[in-house]
Amino acid sequence: MDLALIGEGGHSKVIKDLIGSKPGYKIRAVLDDKYEQLQLVGDVYRGPISSAHDLAEQISSLKFVIGIGGNRVRKTIADRLGLASDSYMTLIHDSAIVSPSASIGVGSVIMAYTIVNADVVIGDHAIINSGAIVEHDSYVGDYVHIAPKALLTGSVAAHEGAMIGAGATIIPGKRMGEWATVGAGATVIHDIPAYRTAVGTPARTIAESS
Ligand SMILES: CC(C)(COP(=O)(O)OP(=O)(O)OC[C@H]1O[C@@H](n2cnc3c(N)ncnc32)[C@H](O)[C@@H]1OP(=O)(O)O)[C@@H](O)C(=O)NCCC(=O)NCCS
Repeated sequence: MDLALIGEGGHSKVIKDLIGSKPGYKIRAVLDDKYEQLQLVGDVYRGPISSAHDLAEQISSLKFVIGIGGNRVRKTIADRLGLASDSYMTLIHDSAIVSPSASIGVGSVIMAYTIVNADVVIGDHAIINSGAIVEHDSYVGDYVHIAPKALLTGSVAAHEGAMIGAGATIIPGKRMGEWATVGAGATVIHDIPAYRTAVGTPARTIAESS
């Protein structure tokens, strides 16, 4: 499997290790806007994100992963590139436990020691980060980030772009609106409306964005 990793920050390091742990998977390109032009360095192409289209033409088997933790940045890049959805790879660490009845969208990454249980639906370009648990019947929208060790109990919904901070717990049936943020360590016992940031136990709104 030939892969192009978009982004070269902290999150992409973890994805790089995930890819490295999978036999037959190889990083053929790393794209980041710190590079001015596309060039072959050793056996890996390095270049700006805009060179994705040229690369896709050169290497027809190439699949992309956007390895950037910021939800808005991932969405901006995916929108800007406009690549077909089958250009993106879904990555699942071998230590993850994923129910056969779960579905996971393109470009999403399921990190080490995660659990994705029965009838979970995960959208595109989402991150289920190290040790997170997404319990049965939960919904994780496009561009959502479930941070390390966060827990979505049963039938939780985290809509597009929501960020669930490290170690946060969402009790059953609660809804995180689009682009809502839940602080690290929070316990969410009420729905969090779209664009709100909520922290603490029980989680309370501290800010609203647009
Ligand atoms: C919630 C969060 C996004 C807020 O960030 P911010 O907008 O920069 O907020 P600030 O740091 O200015 O804090 C604002 C207030 O909220 C409080 N606060 C911030 N995060 C909090 C948290 N997780 N739990 C409890 N209180 C928190 C601060 O103490 C501060 O309170 P004060 O005004 O009484 O001093 C951030 O603190 C957070 O928890 N992010 C999650 C990070 C994470 O898990 N990343 C995963 C990476 S893989």
